[in-house]
Amino acid sequence: MSPSELYIGLMSGTSIDGIDAALVNLSDDNVELVAFEYLPFSHEIQIELQKLSAPNAQIYLQNYGEMDTRLANWFVRAVKTLLSKQQLSPTEIIAIGSHGQTVYHSPSGQYPFSLQIGDPNYIAEQTGITTVADFRRRDLAVGGQGAPLVPAFHKAVFHCKNETRCIVNIGGIANITVLSANEDIPVLGFDTGAGNILLNQWTLQHLNKSYDQNGAWANTGVVNFELVNCLKKEPYFHASPPKSTGVDYFSLAWLESKCNLSHYLPEDVQASLCYLTAITICDAIVKFAPETTRILVCGGGVHNVYLMNLLITNAPCPVQSTSDFGLHPDHVEAIAFAWLAKQTLNQKTGNLESVTGANRPVILGGIYQY
Ligand SMILES: Nc1ncnc2c1ncn2[C@@H]1O[C@H](COP(=O)(O)OP(=O)(O)O)[C@@H](O)[C@H]1O
Ligand SMILES: [Mg+2]
Repeated sequence: MSPSELYIGLMSGTSIDGIDAALVNLSDDNVELVAFEYLPFSHEIQIELQKLSAPNAQIYLQNYGEMDTRLANWFVRAVKTLLSKQQLSPTEIIAIGSHGQTVYHSPSGQYPFSLQIGDPNYIAEQTGITTVADFRRRDLAVGGQGAPLVPAFHKAVFHCKNETRCIVNIGGIANITVLSANEDIPVLGFDTGAGNILLNQWTLQHLNKSYDQNGAWANTGVVNFELVNCLKKEPYFHASPPKSTGVDYFSLAWLESKCNLSHYLPEDVQASLCYLTAITICDAIVKFAPETTRILVCGGGVHNVYLMNLLITNAPCPVQSTSDFGLHPDHVEAIAFAWLAKQTLNQKTGNLESVTGANRPVILGGIYQY
């Protein structure tokens, strides 16, 4: 057996729930999870991050800079916890791949950019581990969307030559990766739109809870199809890939701009938002990847029973959790950034042109050597 090659992947997604930290053995072509740590954000930091990433947020640069450093401290805490529980020293880890916290994603304007915070200088210095970060901007610089970046990893772990698989990640934003059975067919991948983000924000507004546990509240409502049809008119859902989006777009402000919500019971809105998430994923698969024979789901949305039932009911083929294929749905994204860090250190590209729309594959991220 070859010696371990340990990497740590750090992910904090658009749901702003907390930090996922995965310790992974990536020796040879293996992807083996060794340990996982979840560090939930404090309520205070969640509020601060939500303010920073709100659409048209007016913020002071000082505020932005301080959050960059504060967030780095949170990432460092997650790494230190992971190491101490495993009784590992920093010298045993080859590198950290840190996605950072997206506070703005604007891939299609005149001057495309994507901003992730959690300063990797601090992460490298305070953990004593070389850190790879800022993965998205190199792809933007070659004309890509900077997102999604996980499809290359999905291909490495979930490709099957006997069936066409679609990996669905339901984070704050939902994204899909289509892996054709025929490896010569380029991977397709894009954000389908809102995943959990509208569900979370609506739940916060009406129940003062950060999310609707297991979809129990949604389950007390009924889907209002008039409302869903109104929301489905959103041009993003109908645009062809490559495309990506963020919480600076899909938010309560978006929801309120589309329809008068006071006409509906809050629980019916919640049920309808679950339906919207499910149906926009299913529609995207039917339209852009009709050859899909199996759907593998990951991301926190897997735990929303109401949402998952809607997905299963409306999907064109069987739906299963990625755990049936070796990776727990809560771990996939963090593991992907450990894998992307290894790609970068080994001078291998990490983006897929067929997914992001980039002119060419590039080595992603900056290396903050320790
Ligand atoms: N038990 C649960 N019931 C309902 N929703 C859940 C549950 N667990 C997690 N979630 C949803 O998943 C989200 C976190 O998913 P995650 O994959 O971490 O998203 P992101 O990558 O955007 O951070 C939570 O904010 C919540 O909306
Ligand atoms: Mg998360």
